[in-house]
Amino acid sequence: MPGGSPREYEIVLGIELPNGVADDLVRWQGAQRWAVITDTRVGPLYGEPLAQALRDLGVEAHCLEFPAGEQSKTRETVADLQDRLIDLRYGRDSWVIAVGGGVVGDVAGFVAATLFRGIPCVQVPTTLLAMVDSSVGGKTGVDTSAGKNLVGAFLQPRRVLVDFETLSSLPREEIASGMAEIIKYGVILDADLFESLEGDFLEATLTGSEAALSRIVARSCDLKATVVSLDETEGGYRQILNFGHTVGHAIEAVQAYGLRHGEAVAIGMVVEARLASQKIGAPDDLADRIASLCARAGLPTQLPPGCSADAIVKAAFYDKKVRRGEIRCALPNTLGTMSVWNGEYGIPVKAEELMASLLP
Ligand SMILES: NC(=O)c1ccc[n+]([C@@H]2O[C@H](COP(=O)([O-])OP(=O)(O)OC[C@H]3O[C@@H](n4cnc5c(N)ncnc54)[C@H](O)[C@@H]3O)[C@@H](O)[C@H]2O)c1
Ligand SMILES: [Zn+2]
Repeated sequence: MPGGSPREYEIVLGIELPNGVADDLVRWQGAQRWAVITDTRVGPLYGEPLAQALRDLGVEAHCLEFPAGEQSKTRETVADLQDRLIDLRYGRDSWVIAVGGGVVGDVAGFVAATLFRGIPCVQVPTTLLAMVDSSVGGKTGVDTSAGKNLVGAFLQPRRVLVDFETLSSLPREEIASGMAEIIKYGVILDADLFESLEGDFLEATLTGSEAALSRIVARSCDLKATVVSLDETEGGYRQILNFGHTVGHAIEAVQAYGLRHGEAVAIGMVVEARLASQKIGAPDDLADRIASLCARAGLPTQLPPGCSADAIVKAAFYDKKVRRGEIRCALPNTLGTMSVWNGEYGIPVKAEELMASLLP
C-alpha cells in the first residue's frame, strides 16, 4: 500500500533484523521513543536486539515482553503493557513496534490503538501467518472467555517490515499454520495461486526458498490489502476473508486454543467447502482439493478427537459474526470466486446445514 495518508502504508519485504529495521525506522520517521512489544520467545531472538539497535542509533527504545501463546491474548496483558509504558513515561509522541506472530501483532496493535487515545504502530511479523495475514489489514484485539477477538479496534499499521530470515527459527508446524491462510487466498480470490500450490509451489514455500516466500508473501499481502482497501471495517466484501473461519473459530473455542489458528482454519475450510457444495452447488471436489493441499502442508483436515460436531455448532452461534441467530459463512461458488447473497458475502446457514457438513 503506497505511502501518504495514515491509512496507506508501505510493506517492505526482505529487510534485515535488527539493523536494517532499526535504520529504516529511524531514517523514515523521526520519532524519539519506540516501544518494541514482543513475546518471551521472540524477544530474545529479535525484539531485544531491535531495541538495542534502535538505542545504538541514539533514540530511546525499550523491549516489553509478555508470555508467548494465545493464552496471553487478553485484556490483562494489554492493561499490563499499557501500565508499563505509562510508568516508563511513554507519551503521545511514542511509537509501538510489534515484533512477533499474530498474537503479538494483535496485542501490540490494540495497545497502540487505545493508549493515549491511539499512537502509531509498526508491524514486524515473524511468523508466516503474520506475514501473509495478520500484520496487514488493521484488525487488533484480544480474546475473552466467551470467544476469540471479541474486544478490539481497527488500527492500520504505519509500516510493515518483513525479514524472511526470521522464518528459519520458526517451527515447521507454525509455517504450516501460515500456509492455511495462503491456501485460503487461493480459494477465495486466486485460482491460479491455488493451482500453483497444487503443483510444486507448496513444497518450495514450506522448505523456505526465499524466492518462493517472497512471491507468496507479496501476492498474499496484495490480495489482502486489496480486499481491505475496498472494505476497511468489514461492512461487506471483507467477509470473504472469513472463509474457513466461522467453523475455525468455533473449533478454536471448543479446543480452548489447543490447536494453532491455521490448523483450525484448515479444518474449517474443508467443512465450509463441503457446506458450499451441499448448500450452493460449489464443485463437489473442492473440499477434497483443499483437504489434499492442507494435508501436504502437514495441516489437519478433520475435527480432532474429543471435538464433537454438536459442540462446534453450539460454539459457532457465539461467534461475533452471528446475526439474528443465524450462522453466517463466506462460501465459495467455485475455486477463486465467492458467493453473494442479498448483497452480502456472509451466507446465512442453519444449524442443521452446518451439522450436515460436519458429519459427511
Ligand atoms: N489481526 C488479524 O487480521 C489476524 C489475522 C489472522 C490471525 N490473527 C491472529 O493471529 C494469531 C495467530 O498468530 P500466529 O500463528 O503467528 O501465532 P503466535 O503469534 O502465537 O506465534 C506462534 C508461536 O511462534 C513463536 N514465534 C513467532 N515468531 C517466531 C520466530 N520467528 N521464530 C521462533 N518462534 C517464533 C511465538 O512465540 C509463538 O510461540 C491468532 O491469535 C489469530 O487470531 C489475526
Ligand atoms: Zn485467520
